[in-house]
Amino acid sequence: MINIIILGPPGAGKGTQARLIQEKFGYIQVSTGDLIRHEIASGSELGQYLKPIVKSGGYLDDKIILQLLENKLKTVKTGAILDGFPRTENQANALYEMLKANHQQVDLVIELMVDKEILAKRIAGRFSCANCGTIYNEYFNPLVNEGKCDHCQGTEFIRREDDDLDVVQKRLEIYYEKTQPLLNYYEKNGQLSQVDGMQPVGGVASQIEVLITQYLKKPQMCVN
Ligand code: AP5
Repeated sequence: MINIIILGPPGAGKGTQARLIQEKFGYIQVSTGDLIRHEIASGSELGQYLKPIVKSGGYLDDKIILQLLENKLKTVKTGAILDGFPRTENQANALYEMLKANHQQVDLVIELMVDKEILAKRIAGRFSCANCGTIYNEYFNPLVNEGKCDHCQGTEFIRREDDDLDVVQKRLEIYYEKTQPLLNYYEKNGQLSQVDGMQPVGGVASQIEVLITQYLKKPQMCVN
């Protein structure tokens, strides 16, 4: 079992790359953002409570996030690609304990480095297939055939409620205040690898592939 964390600001390409790693290596994307949106879409009481917080761009309570994460991780057998988690040092510590209890560890932490100036445009242009979830961008990563998903031929597309420009500014501020310090946390542990997220999607994916392949070739330590 391998656990890979993808870190980076909103719009850095975490979800895009997590889906590609999933396709290439067969690991499972564990996106706390997707888990939350799923909960909201279900109409549950919890979802109704979470909706306004996400819509306003705030971070959710650690306890709720950890519960959603733990439930999902239990279903993952080969490898997890953590996308959007952890976001705070408290969450990173909780993840460490959760994995340790299952004789696992964080294996790789990959930071997608993207200039601040480009993030709002990436988010403003984002839309995804309502059927299979493939992420597109009207400026940088459009559909090959207009109106049809490249992957599943679906014809319905959605935009996220928290991709509104004002909300995006708040999400970015919170990221730089609360999540960016995590980079130091993982760097001090010698776990952080950086990837230039300004390259086209395929270039970023190739660099990540190299990192994962190198990691898999290294002799692995046993976690007790
Ligand atoms: P979440 O869904 O995790 O959102 P996020 O972290 O803000 O990240 P995004 O999904 O916006 O961006 P991304 O990096 O995945 O980029 P993408 O691949 O889509 O969280 C949403 C909310 O849930 C949070 O605000 C919070 O409220 C809550 N939440 C979630 N986790 C939480 C936690 N742990 N604790 C507390 N609260 C939590 O790409 C963006 C666009 O760019 C796309 O259009 C894509 O096509 C395009 N693109 C991607 N790569 C490239 C490239 N290389 N070149 C050009 N375009 C590209």
